[in-house]
Amino acid sequence: LDPAALYTALDRLPDTDAPTLVVATAGTTDTGAIDPLPDIADVCDHHTATLHIDAAYGAPLLFSDTLHKQLHGLDRAPTVALDLHKLGWQPVAAGLLAVPDSAALAPLAHQAEYLNADDDTEAGLPDLLGRSFRTTRRPDIFKIAVTLRALGRRGLGDLVDHVCTAAQHLADLIEARPGLELYARPTISTVLFRPTGAPPAAVAALRRRLLHHGTAVLGRAATPEGLWLKVTVLNPHTQPDDLRGLLELVEGHTTP
Ligand SMILES: Cc1ncc(COP(=O)(O)O)c(C=O)c1O
Repeated sequence: LDPAALYTALDRLPDTDAPTLVVATAGTTDTGAIDPLPDIADVCDHHTATLHIDAAYGAPLLFSDTLHKQLHGLDRAPTVALDLHKLGWQPVAAGLLAVPDSAALAPLAHQAEYLNADDDTEAGLPDLLGRSFRTTRRPDIFKIAVTLRALGRRGLGDLVDHVCTAAQHLADLIEARPGLELYARPTISTVLFRPTGAPPAAVAALRRRLLHHGTAVLGRAATPEGLWLKVTVLNPHTQPDDLRGLLELVEGHTTP
């Protein structure tokens, strides 16, 4: 999200009392890119727009002693979404909405006599309706709480560091192979690459060959530069040999 383009777009909005919401991303699904959060927050302040940050993928960088710096500006958003099914190693569903003050959840308030009668709430019985629109749901927070207790911030930070280092290593290996082309150095743990100069149809067919062959299930991502194979490194046991082996598979299936 380009802050200058955002500034222009907000400037052009008609003058109304309607609220404006800007959604920035910390860790896009396609490339793992992190928007320039402080600049976007400045633009939102200037235009009195509310900022929400989708940090589903990127938020757990906060656990890392070094990588947390990439999320500078995250604290400027009154609401942040994170999803610990990625860099939190949880089974789905593990999405969270984080707010600095539970008063921000007031719009979720709902009263149903049979669920949260006022006198019950006043008598101290828990009232969960103000936390979600959904009344029936699994206790998703339980597994997250167990992980946080078992591994702690440092334990999770070590796993985050490991997969981000592995992604940098994978990028090094790709750059060292003339037959492969790297999209860009990874921001988090997502690495995009393809056989050098391969057109979109060839990349898509290569991905399907690997899939049908049962040897590698790679993601795909489209950018203005074409189509790419996508590896999102999330397994904290990944070793350099696994990454080398993956690239050999890709090279071995490049021609049908
Ligand atoms: C950037 C981003 N936002 C949000 C989500 C999750 O959205 P949902 O909870 O709707 O599955 C994902 C993927 O899991 C994602 O990559």
